[in-house]
Amino acid sequence: MRYSQKKDPLPPFSEKAITVKEMFDRIAPRYDMLNRLMTFGLDMRWRKKTVRSIKTSSYGTVLDIACGTGDLCESLRKSKANPIGLDFSRGMLNSFNSKAPLINGDALKIPLRDSSVDGVTCGFALRNFHDIHPFLEETARILKPGARLALLEVDEPKNAFIKAGHSFYFNKVVPFIGGLFSDKAAYSYLPHSVIYLPKENELIEMIQSSGFKNVKKFRLTGGIAQLLIAEKVEN
Ligand SMILES: C[S@@+](CC[C@H](N)C(=O)[O-])C[C@H]1O[C@@H](n2cnc3c(N)ncnc32)[C@H](O)[C@@H]1O
Repeated sequence: MRYSQKKDPLPPFSEKAITVKEMFDRIAPRYDMLNRLMTFGLDMRWRKKTVRSIKTSSYGTVLDIACGTGDLCESLRKSKANPIGLDFSRGMLNSFNSKAPLINGDALKIPLRDSSVDGVTCGFALRNFHDIHPFLEETARILKPGARLALLEVDEPKNAFIKAGHSFYFNKVVPFIGGLFSDKAAYSYLPHSVIYLPKENELIEMIQSSGFKNVKKFRLTGGIAQLLIAEKVEN
């Protein structure tokens, strides 16, 4: 019998990729609206910071991996970069809201040449990949030496008070609002999927050992989100 997300928010490892792809296909039409609603618009502020942190020269090519509906691509375009979006969900790409060119492909097997891009961004997707290692290795492979990777993700606040409030909001309110406007199972997966994120030091080590240096982590909005920046090592 095939796994059902309605019964258990987290899929077995063997079905993670297909479950995630089908889930984003389903929730794509209301994805942007719910992002704005659930983060009170903070996600756009975090995206702008992500784009600024890439520090690529004007008209540099930036691959936005797991681009979804294109918010980061559009922010990159406004900053005069040349973004390309990549995502494996056709549903998300059908709701794409930017004029950037698109690749319908897998973040773990990127169809671009070695050392061919000036920057990589990736927003809220790390915990959705069924394996983080190949994603980091592929990212290092396609970046030019010295070019930057910027990873935007959710995070667990350190402060006990913020942590308690955030946990209630993320685990109870988000699935409720998601159920009202979109798909309850998908918006229950969202808070549960944080379990797939490696611990802070482990993640930084993974990034370093995949061919990056100068890894820096920035806590955003009291630590409910994080921005990780790294530079591809020079050859
Ligand atoms: C939470 S959404 C984030 C979308 C967008 N980056 C944003 O900031 O709104 C996660 C995205 O990751 C994509 N994704 C997950 N695994 C992927 C993979 N292996 N290859 C390509 N895209 C993937 C999903 O299709 C989805 O669009």
